[in-house]
Amino acid sequence: MPNASDDLFTREDPIFSNKELLEINHLPGEGRIVGRDDEIANLATAVNPAIFGQSPSNVLIYGKTGTGKSLCAKYVSQRLVDTAEEEGVKATFAYVDCAQDTTETQAVQTIADSVNDPAITGIKVPDKGLSTSTYYKRLWRILDALYDVVLIILDEIDKLSDDDILMQLSRAGEAGKIAGCKLGVIGISNKIQYKDRMDERVKSSLCEREFVFPPYDANQLRDIMDARSDAFRNGVLDPSTIPRAAALAAREHGDARKAIDILRYAGEIAQSMGASTVKENFVTQARQRAETDRFRELIRGSTPHSRYVLQALAILSLSNQQQDGFRTSRVYEVYENICRQQGSDSLSLRRVRDLLKEHAFLDIIEQSKHSGGSAEGSYTKHQLLEDPDVVKDVLTEGVDV
Ligand SMILES: Nc1ncnc2c1ncn2[C@@H]1O[C@H](COP(=O)(O)OP(=O)(O)OP(=O)(O)O)[C@@H](O)[C@H]1O
Ligand SMILES: [Mg+2]
Repeated sequence: MPNASDDLFTREDPIFSNKELLEINHLPGEGRIVGRDDEIANLATAVNPAIFGQSPSNVLIYGKTGTGKSLCAKYVSQRLVDTAEEEGVKATFAYVDCAQDTTETQAVQTIADSVNDPAITGIKVPDKGLSTSTYYKRLWRILDALYDVVLIILDEIDKLSDDDILMQLSRAGEAGKIAGCKLGVIGISNKIQYKDRMDERVKSSLCEREFVFPPYDANQLRDIMDARSDAFRNGVLDPSTIPRAAALAAREHGDARKAIDILRYAGEIAQSMGASTVKENFVTQARQRAETDRFRELIRGSTPHSRYVLQALAILSLSNQQQDGFRTSRVYEVYENICRQQGSDSLSLRRVRDLLKEHAFLDIIEQSKHSGGSAEGSYTKHQLLEDPDVVKDVLTEGVDV
């Protein structure tokens, strides 16, 4: 017989009252977005013309990981759609995670499917099986049938395998593909060099406005966490826990995702230990977990060679623990060895330098310039900022070694 007073299970979470607030995909509501007033206002200005029936500007947003790019793009898009509705303008937005939909066909399918209302259009957008050009044709028909204006957010745009979709979307109006509907593209990337790789024609139409989101400082991170502290039960959070987490996260990266992760993990640690409060010293352990997650997320979808370069640096750091930094030529040697082991042709030294630069932009590594005197000239040294063990573990996850 089930016993109503069975005490095998805890019936209420003793730590969290609304853990959802700390989950990765939680979209904070108004008043919970901290320190991004300027960025939000700038984005709003760029897309504003949509509300009076003109074309929104295409926008490219850059910034390091966890600086609120995806959040602000979705937030502004949603507000635009709401305001447009009040003005009698039919608007919507589509969100594409290009790390998931890397091909042109997948991306167009996702857009068409997410803006479609088959009951009205009578148009079907199957998951697969159509040619790219058929998906486009259906998308254009759907847009003209349902909307006056549509924003398309291409997040992690650098993960797209080529520029073709950017060309199509940014020129759809001019090329007469859509008649009435206006289209705006918001591209988001944490690769500062992404634009250099872009086709000139795409660049000129896609990059009408560019915004760079700076990392958060400790105060902003504290406010971001404070705004979500109602994820915890009353009195459970030690008053020093959030300030400590904010200080740590700001010193390293100014990454809001990491700050929030630290807070969630600190709560989970309290849970697993059966503690009644989330103590400041749980933050240290939580940070290690957050760091591993962050790194895993940073290299998600990155190319094998981009990983080999990091692996080379991790190997060097682990076998020369005293040494702070390694010269490009040294990193390249180890990288070539890894390529050989993997049975893959190595990239040129120049390309490897670019990959190192990308890692430096994301604070995975740090680069420093040195002068070797007249005999040597100047050279660059590269040092891992992530824990080399974390890097090695994450890079070899799911790989036979
Ligand atoms: N200003 C803010 N106020 C409240 N929460 C924030 C703020 N900025 C970021 N966050 C939260 O931090 C997390 C990371 O933000 P977001 O996903 O927007 O970062 P991002 O810049 O897109 O990073 P990435 O380049 O890794 O995709 C999200 O959970 C988001 O809700
Ligand atoms: Mg993002």
